[in-house]
Amino acid sequence: MMIRRSWLGIAAVMMGLGACSKTPDAPPAPSGPPRFELASSDPVKHGERLSKVLGCSGCHAADLTGQDWSDDMGTLWTANLTQSAAKYSHDELAAMITAGKRADRALIDMPSYLFSGLNPEDVDSMVAYLKTLKPQGSVHPEPSMGPELLAMQAKGEWMDSAARVADMKDKGPPDLGADHAFGRFIVRATCVECHGIDLTGGKGPMAEGGNAPPDLRIVASYDPQDFTALMRTGKTTSGREVGAMSEFAQRRYASFTDSEIGAVRDYLVELARHDP
Ligand code: HEC
Ligand code: HEC
Repeated sequence: MMIRRSWLGIAAVMMGLGACSKTPDAPPAPSGPPRFELASSDPVKHGERLSKVLGCSGCHAADLTGQDWSDDMGTLWTANLTQSAAKYSHDELAAMITAGKRADRALIDMPSYLFSGLNPEDVDSMVAYLKTLKPQGSVHPEPSMGPELLAMQAKGEWMDSAARVADMKDKGPPDLGADHAFGRFIVRATCVECHGIDLTGGKGPMAEGGNAPPDLRIVASYDPQDFTALMRTGKTTSGREVGAMSEFAQRRYASFTDSEIGAVRDYLVELARHDP
């Protein structure tokens, strides 16, 4: 419980709720597998919030009708989720999200390895949200993989989404104990996508442009207010922007709850301390 106090305690004092002597040290760590905080008791609203935090609405477009994701390796569209939600059952959609597969084939470049460890209730909420969407726009063409990608797949240098889920199943950022399970869980489901499974920085195409996602131990150098401001607004308290991260923060992490931001920060600060 010590570590949570470091952030939540400061926040409480700042908010003038300084009667700490009366409150227990920190709420007990929730038992059972971690899940996102229920900021709303309405599962549909909870699912909508998660679809922002987890970047569904980044890749699948703000209205979730999908976009052209093709590159020189092949043709690929992020699916039109308003159409998919109408076509597939609840369980089929949950399997696509968490296992990267449809009944007829594995998905491509859908980062289900991030979502395979989500709590089933969170997945249910996201599917419930998708099921409220009115089908609109067209169903996009099926993907086609170019020869280079097929060759990479044959050599094991590239994996479809289902294979990636299996490959990454037991991998994740360092486990820093029960007090940090919540923060680690959030980071594993989202920051890992760009900052790498071990959080030492992005190594994919994003790293080539000189604005590589850095090692997330950098968060230890932020004071709590600055980190919260970055997550909520994309800018630090002094108004500094941090490239593409500013946009991702606005689009995704503005929807984090205070305790989610606190848990992410505490985990990353402890990571820097524990394993500099
Ligand atoms: C990094 C980009 C990216 C993110 C983030 C992402 N997706 Fe996808 N998703 C894709 C791509 C690309 C496909 C198309 C895969 C294919 O056709 O093989 C896809 C396919 C899907 C499908 C299959 C639909 C169908 O009809 O075949 C579902 C369902 C889905 N995504 C849901 C989600 C949800 C829910 C989230 C957030 C939790 C999410 N996606 C986040 C890129 C992404
Ligand atoms: C979609 C990709 C993406 C995701 C997801 C993502 N980041 Fe980033 N992040 C970046 C990129 C790219 C940069 C480098 C930006 C630059 O320097 O131009 C960055 C930079 C940062 C920085 C460094 C800012 C500085 O001072 O230089 C912090 C802190 C950060 N990210 C925190 C996070 C946290 C915490 C999460 C998860 C809650 C996260 N990021 C998720 C792409 C991402």
